[in-house]
Amino acid sequence: NYYAILMAGGVGSRFWPVSTTEFPKQFHDMLGTGETLIQKTFSRLSQLIPKENILILTNEAYNAIVLEQLPMVSQEQIVLEPAMRNTAPCILFASLKIKKLNPNAVVVVAPSDHWIEDEMQFVANLQLSFDLCEREETLMTLGILPTFPNTGYGYIEYDKLDSRPIKKVVQFREKPDYPTARKFVQSRNFLWNAGIFIWSIPSILKAFEAFQPAMLAHFMQGYSSYNTASENDFIKEYYPLAENISIDYAIMEKAKNTFVLPATFDWNDLGTWGSLYDKLPKDKQDNAVVNATVILENASNNIIRTAAKKLVVVDGLNDFIIVDKEDVLLIYPKSKEQDIKLIANKLKE
Ligand code: GDD
Ligand code: MG
Repeated sequence: NYYAILMAGGVGSRFWPVSTTEFPKQFHDMLGTGETLIQKTFSRLSQLIPKENILILTNEAYNAIVLEQLPMVSQEQIVLEPAMRNTAPCILFASLKIKKLNPNAVVVVAPSDHWIEDEMQFVANLQLSFDLCEREETLMTLGILPTFPNTGYGYIEYDKLDSRPIKKVVQFREKPDYPTARKFVQSRNFLWNAGIFIWSIPSILKAFEAFQPAMLAHFMQGYSSYNTASENDFIKEYYPLAENISIDYAIMEKAKNTFVLPATFDWNDLGTWGSLYDKLPKDKQDNAVVNATVILENASNNIIRTAAKKLVVVDGLNDFIIVDKEDVLLIYPKSKEQDIKLIANKLKE
Protein backbone atom coordinates (compact mmCIF):
# COMPACT_ATOMS: atom_id res chain seq x y z
CA ASN A 1 0.00 0.00 0.00
CA TYR A 2 2.99 2.33 0.31
CA TYR A 3 4.03 4.56 -2.58
CA ALA A 4 6.49 7.40 -3.07
CA ILE A 5 6.49 10.42 -5.34
CA LEU A 6 10.09 11.42 -5.75
CA MET A 7 10.47 14.94 -7.11
CA ALA A 8 13.53 15.42 -9.25
CA GLY A 9 12.66 18.28 -11.56
CA GLY A 10 14.58 21.16 -10.01
CA VAL A 11 17.61 22.83 -11.54
CA GLY A 12 19.64 23.76 -8.42
CA SER A 13 21.18 26.85 -9.99
CA ARG A 14 22.85 28.05 -6.76
CA PHE A 15 25.18 25.05 -7.14
CA TRP A 16 26.53 26.27 -10.44
CA PRO A 17 28.95 25.37 -12.02
CA VAL A 18 28.51 21.76 -10.82
CA SER A 19 24.73 21.83 -11.10
CA THR A 20 23.53 22.92 -14.55
CA THR A 21 20.26 22.77 -16.48
CA GLU A 22 21.69 19.84 -18.44
CA PHE A 23 22.80 18.01 -15.30
CA PRO A 24 21.17 19.33 -12.08
CA LYS A 25 22.40 18.76 -8.55
CA GLN A 26 20.17 15.77 -7.66
CA PHE A 27 22.17 13.77 -10.21
CA HIS A 28 25.55 14.70 -8.72
CA ASP A 29 27.54 13.16 -5.93
CA MET A 30 27.54 16.42 -3.97
CA LEU A 31 28.94 14.92 -0.77
CA GLY A 32 31.73 12.91 -2.35
CA THR A 33 30.36 9.61 -1.00
CA GLY A 34 30.23 7.76 -4.32
CA GLU A 35 26.45 8.08 -4.62
CA THR A 36 24.39 10.84 -6.19
CA LEU A 37 21.69 12.61 -4.16
CA ILE A 38 18.86 10.87 -6.03
CA GLN A 39 20.51 7.47 -5.53
CA LYS A 40 20.80 8.14 -1.79
CA THR A 41 17.17 9.29 -1.62
CA PHE A 42 15.92 6.26 -3.55
CA SER A 43 17.71 3.79 -1.32
CA ARG A 44 16.45 5.60 1.81
CA LEU A 45 12.84 5.37 0.60
CA SER A 46 13.13 1.78 -0.56
CA GLN A 47 13.77 0.65 3.02
CA LEU A 48 10.03 1.02 3.59
CA ILE A 49 8.50 1.27 0.12
CA PRO A 50 8.63 -1.43 -2.56
CA LYS A 51 11.04 -0.25 -5.27
CA GLU A 52 8.40 -0.64 -7.99
CA ASN A 53 6.08 1.74 -6.06
CA ILE A 54 8.48 4.67 -6.22
CA LEU A 55 7.57 7.12 -8.98
CA ILE A 56 10.25 9.53 -10.15
CA LEU A 57 8.95 12.85 -11.42
CA THR A 58 11.29 14.79 -13.58
CA ASN A 59 11.64 16.79 -16.75
CA GLU A 60 11.72 14.73 -19.95
CA ALA A 61 15.25 16.00 -20.55
CA TYR A 62 16.50 13.92 -17.60
CA ASN A 63 14.97 10.56 -18.54
CA ALA A 64 18.25 9.01 -19.65
CA ILE A 65 20.08 10.21 -16.53
CA VAL A 66 17.43 8.68 -14.24
CA LEU A 67 17.55 5.34 -16.08
CA GLU A 68 21.30 5.28 -15.84
CA GLN A 69 21.52 6.21 -12.16
CA LEU A 70 18.60 4.05 -11.01
CA PRO A 71 18.84 0.91 -13.17
CA MET A 72 16.32 -0.92 -10.94
CA VAL A 73 13.58 1.49 -12.03
CA SER A 74 11.37 0.71 -15.02
CA GLN A 75 10.39 3.31 -17.61
CA GLU A 76 6.77 3.23 -16.35
CA GLN A 77 7.94 4.56 -12.99
CA ILE A 78 9.51 7.64 -14.51
CA VAL A 79 6.96 10.39 -14.96
CA LEU A 80 8.23 12.80 -17.59
CA GLU A 81 7.08 16.41 -17.53
CA PRO A 82 7.25 18.34 -20.80
CA ALA A 83 7.52 21.63 -18.87
CA MET A 84 8.35 22.82 -15.34
CA ARG A 85 5.14 23.83 -13.56
CA ASN A 86 6.38 23.57 -9.96
CA THR A 87 5.28 20.94 -7.45
CA ALA A 88 1.45 21.13 -7.32
CA PRO A 89 0.78 19.95 -10.90
CA CYS A 90 3.40 17.22 -10.74
CA ILE A 91 2.09 15.89 -7.41
CA LEU A 92 -1.51 15.94 -8.67
CA PHE A 93 -0.67 14.13 -11.90
CA ALA A 94 1.34 11.46 -10.06
CA SER A 95 -1.44 11.06 -7.47
CA LEU A 96 -4.01 10.38 -10.20
CA LYS A 97 -1.72 7.79 -11.76
CA ILE A 98 -1.32 6.08 -8.36
CA LYS A 99 -5.09 6.23 -7.75
CA LYS A 100 -5.57 4.07 -10.84
CA LEU A 101 -3.11 1.50 -9.54
CA ASN A 102 -4.22 1.53 -5.92
CA PRO A 103 -7.00 3.94 -4.87
CA ASN A 104 -6.23 3.68 -1.14
CA ALA A 105 -2.46 4.00 -1.35
CA VAL A 106 -0.59 6.06 1.24
CA VAL A 107 2.10 8.18 -0.29
CA VAL A 108 5.21 10.05 0.73
CA VAL A 109 6.15 13.02 -1.45
CA ALA A 110 9.87 13.66 -1.16
CA PRO A 111 12.49 15.91 -2.75
CA SER A 112 15.37 14.07 -4.34
CA ASP A 113 18.11 16.48 -3.35
CA HIS A 114 18.19 16.74 0.45
CA TRP A 115 20.73 15.53 2.97
CA ILE A 116 19.45 13.13 5.65
CA GLU A 117 22.03 11.10 7.48
CA ASP A 118 20.16 9.02 10.03
CA GLU A 119 18.24 6.59 7.83
CA MET A 120 16.87 4.61 10.77
CA GLN A 121 15.22 7.66 12.29
CA PHE A 122 13.95 8.72 8.89
CA VAL A 123 12.33 5.33 8.33
CA ALA A 124 10.84 5.35 11.84
CA ASN A 125 9.36 8.82 11.29
CA LEU A 126 7.96 7.75 7.94
CA GLN A 127 6.37 4.63 9.45
CA LEU A 128 4.64 6.69 12.17
CA SER A 129 3.33 9.06 9.51
CA PHE A 130 2.09 6.27 7.24
CA ASP A 131 0.24 4.72 10.21
CA LEU A 132 -1.65 7.94 10.93
CA CYS A 133 -2.44 8.61 7.28
CA GLU A 134 -3.84 5.11 6.85
CA ARG A 135 -6.23 5.67 9.76
CA GLU A 136 -7.24 9.29 9.28
CA GLU A 137 -7.95 11.80 6.57
CA THR A 138 -4.99 14.12 7.15
CA LEU A 139 -2.21 15.86 5.32
CA MET A 140 1.11 15.42 7.08
CA THR A 141 4.50 17.06 6.85
CA LEU A 142 7.77 16.54 8.65
CA GLY A 143 9.00 19.53 10.65
CA ILE A 144 12.53 20.67 11.43
CA LEU A 145 13.58 22.74 14.45
CA PRO A 146 14.50 26.13 12.94
CA THR A 147 17.89 27.64 13.73
CA PHE A 148 17.62 31.04 12.01
CA PRO A 149 15.03 33.12 10.11
CA ASN A 150 15.49 31.48 6.71
CA THR A 151 13.00 33.09 4.30
CA GLY A 152 13.33 30.29 1.74
CA TYR A 153 11.37 27.77 3.80
CA GLY A 154 7.80 27.11 4.81
CA TYR A 155 6.94 27.58 8.51
CA ILE A 156 4.57 25.37 10.48
CA GLU A 157 2.93 26.55 13.69
CA TYR A 158 1.83 23.60 15.78
CA ASP A 159 -0.46 23.28 18.75
CA LYS A 160 1.73 23.72 21.86
CA LEU A 161 -0.70 21.78 24.04
CA ASP A 162 -0.75 18.76 21.76
CA SER A 163 1.43 16.24 23.60
CA ARG A 164 1.20 13.51 20.95
CA PRO A 165 4.27 12.84 18.79
CA ILE A 166 2.34 13.99 15.71
CA LYS A 167 0.97 17.46 16.33
CA LYS A 168 -2.00 19.40 15.06
CA VAL A 169 -0.95 22.26 12.78
CA VAL A 170 -2.29 25.74 13.61
CA GLN A 171 -1.02 27.42 10.46
CA PHE A 172 1.31 26.80 7.52
CA ARG A 173 3.10 29.83 6.05
CA GLU A 174 5.22 29.46 2.94
CA LYS A 175 8.31 31.70 2.61
CA PRO A 176 7.40 34.54 5.03
CA ASP A 177 9.32 37.83 4.87
CA TYR A 178 12.30 38.29 7.17
CA PRO A 179 10.58 40.05 10.13
CA THR A 180 7.82 37.44 10.14
CA ALA A 181 10.32 34.57 9.93
CA ARG A 182 12.24 36.08 12.85
CA LYS A 183 9.07 36.33 14.92
CA PHE A 184 8.23 32.71 14.07
CA VAL A 185 11.65 31.42 15.09
CA GLN A 186 11.54 33.34 18.38
CA SER A 187 8.07 32.13 19.33
CA ARG A 188 9.33 28.54 19.55
CA ASN A 189 6.26 26.65 18.42
CA PHE A 190 7.17 26.91 14.75
CA LEU A 191 9.01 24.36 12.66
CA TRP A 192 10.50 24.52 9.18
CA ASN A 193 8.71 22.48 6.57
CA ALA A 194 11.14 19.81 5.37
CA GLY A 195 9.20 19.53 2.12
CA ILE A 196 8.43 15.88 2.83
CA PHE A 197 4.68 15.21 2.81
CA ILE A 198 2.68 12.12 3.74
CA TRP A 199 -0.98 11.45 2.98
CA SER A 200 -3.38 8.96 1.46
CA ILE A 201 -4.51 9.29 -2.15
CA PRO A 202 -8.14 9.97 -1.10
CA SER A 203 -6.98 12.73 1.33
CA ILE A 204 -4.81 14.62 -1.14
CA LEU A 205 -7.37 14.36 -3.95
CA LYS A 206 -10.06 15.71 -1.60
CA ALA A 207 -7.78 18.64 -0.81
CA PHE A 208 -7.25 19.37 -4.52
CA GLU A 209 -11.01 19.20 -5.00
CA ALA A 210 -11.52 21.74 -2.21
CA PHE A 211 -8.66 24.17 -2.92
CA GLN A 212 -7.59 23.61 -6.56
CA PRO A 213 -10.76 22.48 -8.33
CA ALA A 214 -9.66 23.94 -11.68
CA MET A 215 -6.33 22.10 -11.60
CA LEU A 216 -8.07 18.87 -10.63
CA ALA A 217 -10.59 19.25 -13.46
CA HIS A 218 -7.75 20.03 -15.86
CA PHE A 219 -5.90 16.82 -15.07
CA MET A 220 -9.09 14.71 -14.84
CA GLN A 221 -9.66 15.37 -18.55
CA GLY A 222 -6.92 12.86 -19.32
CA TYR A 223 -7.63 10.40 -16.52
CA SER A 224 -8.74 7.55 -18.77
CA SER A 225 -5.39 7.68 -20.58
CA TYR A 226 -3.19 7.55 -17.46
CA ASN A 227 -0.89 4.52 -17.24
CA THR A 228 -1.73 3.67 -20.87
CA ALA A 229 0.04 4.28 -24.17
CA SER A 230 -2.00 7.44 -24.85
CA GLU A 231 -1.04 9.17 -21.58
CA ASN A 232 1.87 10.87 -23.28
CA ASP A 233 -0.28 12.56 -25.93
CA PHE A 234 -2.50 14.08 -23.27
CA ILE A 235 0.38 15.19 -21.08
CA LYS A 236 2.34 16.79 -23.94
CA GLU A 237 -0.59 19.04 -24.71
CA TYR A 238 -2.15 19.65 -21.29
CA TYR A 239 0.69 19.57 -18.76
CA PRO A 240 2.27 22.88 -19.86
CA LEU A 241 -1.14 24.58 -19.45
CA ALA A 242 -1.40 23.74 -15.74
CA GLU A 243 -0.97 26.60 -13.27
CA ASN A 244 2.62 27.12 -12.12
CA ILE A 245 2.31 26.84 -8.32
CA SER A 246 3.92 24.88 -5.51
CA ILE A 247 2.05 22.43 -3.28
CA ASP A 248 2.85 24.70 -0.32
CA TYR A 249 0.82 27.64 -1.66
CA ALA A 250 -1.73 25.53 -3.54
CA ILE A 251 -2.72 23.16 -0.73
CA MET A 252 -0.72 23.33 2.51
CA GLU A 253 -1.45 26.98 3.37
CA LYS A 254 -5.16 26.38 2.83
CA ALA A 255 -5.84 22.94 4.30
CA LYS A 256 -7.25 22.55 7.81
CA ASN A 257 -6.64 18.88 8.59
CA THR A 258 -2.85 19.11 8.64
CA PHE A 259 -0.46 17.51 11.12
CA VAL A 260 3.27 17.71 11.66
CA LEU A 261 5.77 15.24 13.03
CA PRO A 262 8.86 17.00 14.42
CA ALA A 263 11.59 15.02 12.68
CA THR A 264 14.08 13.12 14.80
CA PHE A 265 16.74 13.05 12.07
CA ASP A 266 19.23 15.71 11.00
CA TRP A 267 18.13 17.47 7.86
CA ASN A 268 19.66 19.89 5.42
CA ASP A 269 18.12 20.87 2.10
CA LEU A 270 21.53 21.41 0.49
CA GLY A 271 20.30 24.60 -1.11
CA THR A 272 23.65 26.38 -1.43
CA TRP A 273 27.40 25.76 -1.35
CA GLY A 274 27.36 27.06 2.23
CA SER A 275 24.80 24.48 3.37
CA LEU A 276 26.85 21.75 1.72
CA TYR A 277 29.96 23.09 3.47
CA ASP A 278 28.13 22.71 6.81
CA LYS A 279 27.59 18.99 6.17
CA LEU A 280 31.07 18.05 4.91
CA PRO A 281 33.92 16.88 7.13
CA LYS A 282 36.48 19.64 7.71
CA ASP A 283 40.20 19.97 8.39
CA LYS A 284 41.76 21.81 11.36
CA GLN A 285 41.29 25.18 9.65
CA ASP A 286 37.70 24.29 8.86
CA ASN A 287 38.24 23.78 5.15
CA ALA A 288 35.96 21.25 3.46
CA VAL A 289 37.54 19.45 0.54
CA VAL A 290 35.83 17.20 -2.04
CA ASN A 291 37.94 15.18 -4.51
CA ALA A 292 40.89 17.55 -4.47
CA THR A 293 44.28 17.07 -2.86
CA VAL A 294 45.19 20.34 -1.21
CA ILE A 295 48.11 22.34 0.05
CA LEU A 296 46.71 25.11 2.22
CA GLU A 297 48.50 28.02 3.88
CA ASN A 298 46.66 30.72 5.83
CA ALA A 299 43.43 29.39 4.46
CA SER A 300 40.32 28.66 6.48
CA ASN A 301 36.58 28.07 6.15
CA ASN A 302 36.81 27.37 2.43
CA ILE A 303 34.94 24.76 0.44
CA ILE A 304 37.12 23.31 -2.31
CA ARG A 305 35.84 20.87 -4.91
CA THR A 306 37.42 19.61 -8.10
CA ALA A 307 35.84 17.36 -10.71
CA ALA A 308 38.69 14.92 -11.02
CA LYS A 309 41.35 14.49 -8.36
CA LYS A 310 43.48 17.57 -8.69
CA LEU A 311 46.10 19.31 -6.63
CA VAL A 312 44.88 22.68 -5.36
CA VAL A 313 47.23 25.15 -3.70
CA VAL A 314 45.66 28.00 -1.75
CA ASP A 315 47.33 30.71 0.30
CA GLY A 316 45.70 33.63 2.07
CA LEU A 317 42.10 32.93 1.24
CA ASN A 318 39.28 32.51 3.77
CA ASP A 319 35.54 31.89 3.50
CA PHE A 320 35.58 31.14 -0.22
CA ILE A 321 33.92 28.66 -2.55
CA ILE A 322 36.46 27.17 -4.96
CA VAL A 323 34.93 24.86 -7.54
CA ASP A 324 36.82 23.50 -10.51
CA LYS A 325 35.21 21.83 -13.52
CA GLU A 326 36.65 21.00 -16.93
CA ASP A 327 35.31 24.21 -18.46
CA VAL A 328 34.71 26.50 -15.47
CA LEU A 329 36.59 27.68 -12.41
CA LEU A 330 34.57 29.44 -9.71
CA ILE A 331 36.25 31.44 -6.93
CA TYR A 332 33.55 33.18 -5.00
CA PRO A 333 32.97 34.51 -1.46
CA LYS A 334 30.72 32.31 0.65
CA SER A 335 28.91 35.40 1.88
CA LYS A 336 27.56 35.97 -1.65
CA GLU A 337 26.50 32.38 -2.32
CA GLN A 338 22.91 33.41 -3.13
CA ASP A 339 24.17 35.42 -6.14
CA ILE A 340 25.57 32.34 -7.87
CA LYS A 341 22.05 31.67 -9.12
CA LEU A 342 22.08 35.05 -10.89
CA ILE A 343 25.36 34.23 -12.64
CA ALA A 344 24.03 30.86 -13.76
CA ASN A 345 20.88 32.50 -15.10
CA LYS A 346 22.81 35.26 -16.88
CA LEU A 347 25.05 32.72 -18.59
CA LYS A 348 21.99 30.87 -19.90
CA GLU A 349 20.89 33.97 -21.85
N1 GDD B 1 9.35 16.96 -10.91
C1 GDD B 1 9.42 18.22 -10.54
N2 GDD B 1 8.82 19.16 -11.31
N3 GDD B 1 10.08 18.51 -9.43
C2 GDD B 1 10.12 19.81 -9.06
C3 GDD B 1 9.51 20.84 -9.80
C4 GDD B 1 8.82 20.49 -11.02
O1 GDD B 1 8.28 21.30 -11.77
N4 GDD B 1 9.75 22.01 -9.17
C5 GDD B 1 10.47 21.71 -8.07
N5 GDD B 1 10.70 20.38 -8.01
C6 GDD B 1 11.42 19.63 -6.96
C7 GDD B 1 12.80 20.21 -6.65
O2 GDD B 1 13.79 19.51 -7.37
C8 GDD B 1 12.92 19.93 -5.16
O3 GDD B 1 13.43 18.64 -4.93
C9 GDD B 1 11.48 19.95 -4.64
O4 GDD B 1 10.67 19.74 -5.78
C10 GDD B 1 11.08 21.26 -3.94
O5 GDD B 1 11.19 22.32 -4.84
P1 GDD B 1 12.04 23.64 -4.50
O6 GDD B 1 11.93 24.57 -5.65
O7 GDD B 1 13.41 23.25 -4.04
O8 GDD B 1 11.18 24.22 -3.29
P2 GDD B 1 11.68 25.25 -2.20
O9 GDD B 1 13.01 24.85 -1.68
O10 GDD B 1 11.54 26.63 -2.74
O11 GDD B 1 10.59 25.07 -1.02
C11 GDD B 1 10.11 23.81 -0.60
O12 GDD B 1 11.08 23.10 0.15
C12 GDD B 1 11.48 23.71 1.42
C13 GDD B 1 12.45 22.80 2.12
O13 GDD B 1 13.56 22.56 1.33
C14 GDD B 1 8.84 24.08 0.24
O14 GDD B 1 8.16 22.85 0.46
C15 GDD B 1 9.18 24.74 1.57
O15 GDD B 1 8.02 24.88 2.37
C16 GDD B 1 10.23 23.92 2.31
O16 GDD B 1 10.58 24.56 3.54
MG1 MG C 1 14.55 23.57 -2.27
